[in-house]
Order: sequence, then C-alpha cells, then structure tokens
Amino acid sequence: MEHRIVIVFSGAGSNMEAIVRRCREQGWPACVAGVVCNRPDAPGLALAHQLDLPATVVDHRAHADREAFDTALAAAIDAHAPTLVVLAGFMRILGEAFVRRYEGRLLNIHPSLLPAFTGLHTHRRALEAGCQVAGATVHFVTPTLDHGPIVMQAAVPVRPGDDEAALAARVLAAEHVIYPLAVRWFVEGKLRLEGTRVRQSDGASQLLM
Ligand code: GRF
Repeated sequence: MEHRIVIVFSGAGSNMEAIVRRCREQGWPACVAGVVCNRPDAPGLALAHQLDLPATVVDHRAHADREAFDTALAAAIDAHAPTLVVLAGFMRILGEAFVRRYEGRLLNIHPSLLPAFTGLHTHRRALEAGCQVAGATVHFVTPTLDHGPIVMQAAVPVRPGDDEAALAARVLAAEHVIYPLAVRWFVEGKLRLEGTRVRQSDGASQLLM
C-alpha cells in the first residue's frame, strides 16, 4: 500500500524537511501529498515550496473558535486523502473531534522525554529542574495533550553550561533522526498498538541515545 502523508506544522519546518527528504531518498512506500500550516508567515512555507510540496495555510486567527479552526484544518488535510497525518512542530491544541477523526494515524513529536514536561518551554523547564538527560518523543496523538502511545524516544545529555538554545538545538538534531524513522515504520506497517504501548514488529530499538 502506498501511504499518503500530510504534514502539519507552524514554524521552521525542519522536521517536515527531514521527513520529506528521507521519504524520497529511501523510497518509502509513501509520498508526502501535501503540507498544511497555520501561520501565513511561517518560514517552513518557503521550505515546502523548495521541496515542491503543495502547501495550504489555514490561519487560526481567521477562525472564531477552536472548533471552526479544527474543521477548516481537517478539510485542508482531507483534500489530500491522507492515510497518515504528521504533526511536526504544530503549535496549536487540537480538539477531541479532530483527534478522533485521525485516531491511529496521527503522530506528533514533542521536545521532551514524555511523560515529563508536557506543554510549552520544555527545555527551560528541564534545565530549571536540573535534569541530566533531555530528549524528544514521537507518539500517537490522543485527546489528552502530549499523551498517547510512545513510538520512539531520543535521549540527549544536558551539558554543563547549556542554555535553552543549546539544549534545544541538541534535541532538535535528535528529532530529525527519530521522526523520519518513526514515520517510516508506520508506512511500512511495522508499528503495532498494544493497549497503551507501541511495539516495533522487527524488534528495532525504539530508543535513540
Ligand atoms: C521542535 O522542537 C518540535 O518538537 C517543536 O517545535 C520544534 C519545531 O521545529 N515542538 P521545526 O518546525 O520542525 O523546525
């Protein structure tokens, strides 16, 4: 089966780029059918153009409430008939109806080792807490923010003298490794959901460190 991936983002789009490039280089049984962005000024839109990807902007500020935004966002996504929806640096909270619509085929990446540090400012909070290890998590999306079955995690060290930017850069580099891999596993049919857990059917490590 040839999967159709739609990537949804808000900002720089570096995870989007990493996924698109790996998909093309490695010949996954998939294509990135299009991207959707909620910010008309997002730098990632230029990147999408360079990558020859159809891009749609659904500006959250142009919608009266979350429900109206979620409905417009789903319409833009569904226009590409996706089999997988990938949230990659998408900075809006999605309502339950949206999440249920794509249940089991909606992935997110969060820049922390979940279940620690859900929400915003993960790197600042990890530094403040004196964490010695930080990281990122790819997970299936459920209606509870930054929860959902974990597909893969990357752990990176927190180094003496790190500030938020230094730690964020180290985590982001790891995101660019684990997110394409997790998406590849999905399109190759190698992810099994077992209750609250995800198993990789080849037995490949779901940890990068
Ligand atoms: C990543 O750290 C992602 O986890 C997050 O925001 C950043 C987005 O980076 N929540 P990019 O847009 O993929 O470059």
